[in-house]
Amino acid sequence: MIAAARKAGRRLIRDFGELENLQVSRKGPADFVTTADERTEQILVQELSVARPGYGFLLEEAGSIEGSDKTHRFIIDPIDGTTNFMHGVPHFAISIGLERESTIVSALVFNPVTDEMFVAERGHGAFLNDKRLRVAARHNLADIIVASGAPFLGKEGRNEFLKEIDVILAATSGIRRFGSAALDLAWVATGRFDAFWERKLQPWDIAAGQLLVREAGGMVSDLTGQEQMLQSGDILTANDTLHRTLLAMIREAGK
Ligand code: IPD
Ligand code: CA
Ligand code: CA
Repeated sequence: MIAAARKAGRRLIRDFGELENLQVSRKGPADFVTTADERTEQILVQELSVARPGYGFLLEEAGSIEGSDKTHRFIIDPIDGTTNFMHGVPHFAISIGLERESTIVSALVFNPVTDEMFVAERGHGAFLNDKRLRVAARHNLADIIVASGAPFLGKEGRNEFLKEIDVILAATSGIRRFGSAALDLAWVATGRFDAFWERKLQPWDIAAGQLLVREAGGMVSDLTGQEQMLQSGDILTANDTLHRTLLAMIREAGK
């Protein structure tokens, strides 16, 4: 997974430098798909298929590819943060989760611009470029910063989000909306962000990132406190204590 991401990342960096030459087509409201997205995904599929023949794929751009091995599949977002990428904002990542019998067992989030490689294996911890990661220990709401994703044009959940940020802004050091859910999760795993929540994400946005946070000692749930993040697309992560507090605040905001 690391070798595949590095190869795809090198290409992505070249594309990022030549943004103006990219052909851009509209996939939906505010959701652009670039040739870079598709090419990155193809490189990842090629490399991973050689390394692990028979594994299946769930891909943002090309959809599902059934493998002969029904117990393994890679869940891939070739560029998480496409809107940033399109605007020349250097905050986007390749995200790869490896699922074994419906459980994510390996995770990789790679920002090729900063060369930050976040990896985790279930039961073996999370790492940033070989440095062990641990979620932030802050418990005091007044000290924390919380990342989220604001529902943009065409996305559901604006009313819920506005109520939630109202409650969270009033109690914390602030909110950040950086535009890549995979990096938001990786940054919670490093302790840069204290928490992250977002609704209506796709499996490829969070498959890898949620394992990074868990392996960095964080709590991960959906917004009902269950572990149906990949099914519902809703996610909340933080250290145990903050997770409990924020879950209660989000529930209260919804009343
Ligand atoms: C998006 C990013 C963003 C989140 C959006 C996602 P994309 O993924 O993760 O942070 O708020 O909901 O769609 O489209 O850049 O792969
Ligand atoms: Ca994404
Ligand atoms: Ca994407």
